[in-house]
Amino acid sequence: PDEPLWETGRMARTFETVGVVGLGTMGAGIAEVFARSGLNVIGVEADDAALARGRGHLESSTGKVVARGRMSTQEQTALLGRISFTTSREDLAGADLVIEAIPEIMEYKRALFADLDRICKPSAVLATNTSSLSVTAIAAATSRPAQVVGMHFFNPAPVMRLVEVIGTVVIEDGLAAEVAGLARRLGKTPVTVGDRAGFVVNRLLLGYLNHACVLLESGLSSRDDIDVAMKLGLGLPMGPFTLLDLVGLDTSYEVCEVLFRESRDRRHAPAPMLRELVTAGLLGRKTGRGFYSYGEGTATVPE
Ligand code: 3HC
Repeated sequence: PDEPLWETGRMARTFETVGVVGLGTMGAGIAEVFARSGLNVIGVEADDAALARGRGHLESSTGKVVARGRMSTQEQTALLGRISFTTSREDLAGADLVIEAIPEIMEYKRALFADLDRICKPSAVLATNTSSLSVTAIAAATSRPAQVVGMHFFNPAPVMRLVEVIGTVVIEDGLAAEVAGLARRLGKTPVTVGDRAGFVVNRLLLGYLNHACVLLESGLSSRDDIDVAMKLGLGLPMGPFTLLDLVGLDTSYEVCEVLFRESRDRRHAPAPMLRELVTAGLLGRKTGRGFYSYGEGTATVPE
């Protein structure tokens, strides 16, 4: 609930400069969303090659919007001009909020948050875009756990309208409401969720996606027919295998693992097929192949 800030006894924060650490599919999309709403963005990647890929994501994503006539080239230039690209985390010292979108590995996240805690100004909010890991455990790696929050975007971030705002037992009064306000400023609809693996969306979604893999392995139906059935039978934008390829098979697998560890619910035990594809490096769209292939203009995705 949006409690009025005067009841929290402190001034509302303003978020004008935000840092985004990790410019993969999600991070680049999140940077685009912030910059589109007029915020200044500092995009951070580990090395020059990753930084160039992140910039490429942003240029092609905004380029598609221009090609559809939804944005002028001047607006695109202005949007991209609000994003600075760096390989130095130290450049985040002045950011009002930093959001992390690095791989779903707890040790990496905790090490990053300890570093952000050292670098960022005392008032800065540290946010994680984790899909399933404990926000509380990430917060505990810092000396400011009350200022750590989950801000979970959905893929593709510029298009999907939801943001899950995850508070912890130690979050500062009013901060979840402020972050929800920021999400609204970005044109998103926030929902507030407790810190349990998978939050709301992934907790429900991954059981379904994983089950689709189990059904495919059992020979119940084909990849294409399962996708067509769910898409047309339920009016969904995509069937489960197309969606798995979009989300990334590695991310899907990791979320299932976390959910299974927490719930011991067999629905979340990662399907062997999912594990094998991940081991083979077939991670979906981002690697050009997952359940489907995405060669130059030859995507074999069912209509
Ligand atoms: N900025 C703004 N708008 C953009 C954009 C951008 N960068 N890129 C695309 N759009 C707009 C397009 O202009 C288009 O708008 P229009 O319909 O008004 O013209 C709209 O978005 C759809 O774009 P496309 O026509 O290119 O694509 P489709 O109509 O084929 O839809 C899709 C693609 C939006 C991906 C749709 O298939 C979909 O919604 N799929 C389901 C995605 C989903 O479920 N995501 C959640 C996954 S779970 C997750 O992410 C959680 C994680 O933790 C695992």
